[in-house]
Amino acid sequence: MDFLTIEGGAALRGTVRISGSKNAALPILIATLLTDDPCIVRNVPDLRDIETVIALLVFLGKKVDRQRDYVEVTAGTPLLAEAPYELVRKMRASVVVLGPLLARLHHVKVSLPGGCAIGGRPIDIHLDGFKAFGAEIQLDQGYVDVHARDHELHAATFRMPFASVGATENLMMAATLIPGKTMLLNAAMEPEITDLADMLNAMGARITGAGSATLTIEGVAKLHGVDHQVIADRIEAGTYMVAAAMTGGDLKIENCRPDHLGSLIDKMHQAGIPVDVSGQTIHVSAPQSISPVDAETAVYPGFPTDLQAQWMACMALSNGQATIKEQVFENRFMHVAELQRMGARIQTKGNAAMVEGIKGLSGADVMVSDLRAGAALVLAGLAARGTTTIHRVYHLDRGYETLEQKLSAVGAHIIRGQE
Ligand code: UD1
Repeated sequence: MDFLTIEGGAALRGTVRISGSKNAALPILIATLLTDDPCIVRNVPDLRDIETVIALLVFLGKKVDRQRDYVEVTAGTPLLAEAPYELVRKMRASVVVLGPLLARLHHVKVSLPGGCAIGGRPIDIHLDGFKAFGAEIQLDQGYVDVHARDHELHAATFRMPFASVGATENLMMAATLIPGKTMLLNAAMEPEITDLADMLNAMGARITGAGSATLTIEGVAKLHGVDHQVIADRIEAGTYMVAAAMTGGDLKIENCRPDHLGSLIDKMHQAGIPVDVSGQTIHVSAPQSISPVDAETAVYPGFPTDLQAQWMACMALSNGQATIKEQVFENRFMHVAELQRMGARIQTKGNAAMVEGIKGLSGADVMVSDLRAGAALVLAGLAARGTTTIHRVYHLDRGYETLEQKLSAVGAHIIRGQE
């Protein structure tokens, strides 16, 4: 298993170029199941989760050609209606094949994703939405079987009890091929949803309202091929922004979407961290000191749960006390115990963490529990005195393209090893 060793204390200076968004690319690649025509997807990051989704598409019958600059998906064998445990267990986002396959084949069977490190993560909202479309659901031996009664699905108005990102993607994709007008109320508004809707519309779908809480989808008979460019990864950009601040560095973060990072930019300003935006570049320079700023995670445009751990690491170095509340996932404080090993003063109570800032963190051996917890540990290691060894790096490889290369290029002392 790989590990990372970081000699902390170097201020990061220079330019980092942001990759395509993992969370946008995953459903976008899955959306190619909605057509037999060739689809080209650009700006796809080179990550483990992307390899997993490509393996899933190939298993389901697609031909996938990954080139340096794009991924081309074309028809191979007739589509299969079943996603097996071996593929779904590697990546929860695989459940998003339910929508496209249900719409095309009127029947689909997917292994239930099960729990994961950051909470139970059920798919009840996805399934209730399919039921509203007239599908019947059976749970059998760890698989969920979704099929259209009498081979017919119908459009519906469905209010989501929570604005789930995955459920919005699943239901929006299914509705593109269901005759009639579907309305999804209390839909997720994340930029990744808008990117997916843009791609689907370019394939001939009729979706309006993406980026708002109400999505209207007029079903069409068929979708066609597309050439689509994935948006920049706002979470990767946010992670490098916090890295610049925590190391007292100076980073230009290029090729990103500052308009998708409003809540983080606001928090950084409040914390006294200089942030300037110019076009697609965000410039973060060294703060004199970091003021404590509370954060509560929320659905977009609120503070992203995927930046909660990184913000906690940053607040661990603030000159006061900050409270961080996790409102989207249960049990997403796995990084706390590891940050404590590096000297951070954090107390948790339910979904709240009280962080008492200290002057400096110290290097330690730490273990990654999930992707964003891992990002927080890298940030802490970069800012800490001494050596930090980060174990179970495979979680980080799911979501950060060429992490060590990007960090080394701006002055970090970071190397990968194998244990
Ligand atoms: C996506 C992102 C993930 C991000 C999350 C929230 C991808 C691949 N992943 O995950 O990085 O942290 O959005 O921004 O895009 N829930 C239910 N029932 C459901 C569905 C969700 O109770 O049927 C709950 C979940 O348990 C969780 C919350 O809703 O507590 C948010 O989940 P959701 O928005 O669906 O996140 P994902 O799509 O899984």
